[in-house]
Amino acid sequence: MLIQETEWFKGFVRMADDGYGMGWHECNGGNLSYRIREEEAEVVKESFKNREWKDIGTNVPGLCGEFFLITGSGKFFRNISLMPEDTLGIIEVDSTGSRYRLVWGYVNGAVPTSELITHLMNHQVKKRVTEGRSRVIYHAHPSDIIALSFILPLEDEVFTRELWGIMTECPIVFPKGIGVVPWLVPGSVELGKATAKLMEKYDAAVWAHHGMFATGEDFDHTFGLMHTIEKSAGILIRQMSAGREKLSCITADQFRSLADRYGISLDERFLQ
Ligand code: 13P
Ligand code: ZN
Repeated sequence: MLIQETEWFKGFVRMADDGYGMGWHECNGGNLSYRIREEEAEVVKESFKNREWKDIGTNVPGLCGEFFLITGSGKFFRNISLMPEDTLGIIEVDSTGSRYRLVWGYVNGAVPTSELITHLMNHQVKKRVTEGRSRVIYHAHPSDIIALSFILPLEDEVFTRELWGIMTECPIVFPKGIGVVPWLVPGSVELGKATAKLMEKYDAAVWAHHGMFATGEDFDHTFGLMHTIEKSAGILIRQMSAGREKLSCITADQFRSLADRYGISLDERFLQ
């Protein structure tokens, strides 16, 4: 079967197009990866051409033998659906979790995203904490959440409380809250580690003055999480820009009844 004809590949490309349409991917901004299921990899393996093993730059023993579809470094999201083999590729992690090789795509000398270490470190954490369900990792540069990272204190509690409080269904979409990573060098091991620590308990994190990082079980939920966080950041900025104090708000008790109605548990530290 041709890789481009599989549902997972089409879902990946559609999500990339949607992200570009939202204005979250100027130039080569952002990156996306999908942990391919064993049975999905099996049916397309005949198109794989193994290249040489390379060091990942970190150890991810929890991902030995896994295959990932990942955007290429320096590639523009607006070109993904037009030139998938140029902008995307599939990599395989070796049996020690310390090396990877390109097996498909990345024609014209492309390589995986400069955030490869962060993607793999975080896939490893999410695979463990979700017992294998989490498969998608998405990094984008949405304007309003970036703007908010200059206005709000860089604390998980503040971001979660403010975003929940400005749009009623936020706690239903991200009941665990969101984390905040201080400014760190893009593509660095430090950024990967700081994010991975937060992914033990959250599904998304703000990268201060840079963008957002979101994870999920499929393309719909990961895209939806990014979309919801960015939309609520936009509403918050509008409310702040109106130059008026809030005349009413969603109270802690109202959040508790929302949690009861939807069967979710909301950490009290985000309600104070
Ligand atoms: P890449 O083009 O290497 O994926 O980098 C884009 C980016 O957003 C880095 O944070
Ligand atoms: Zn970035």
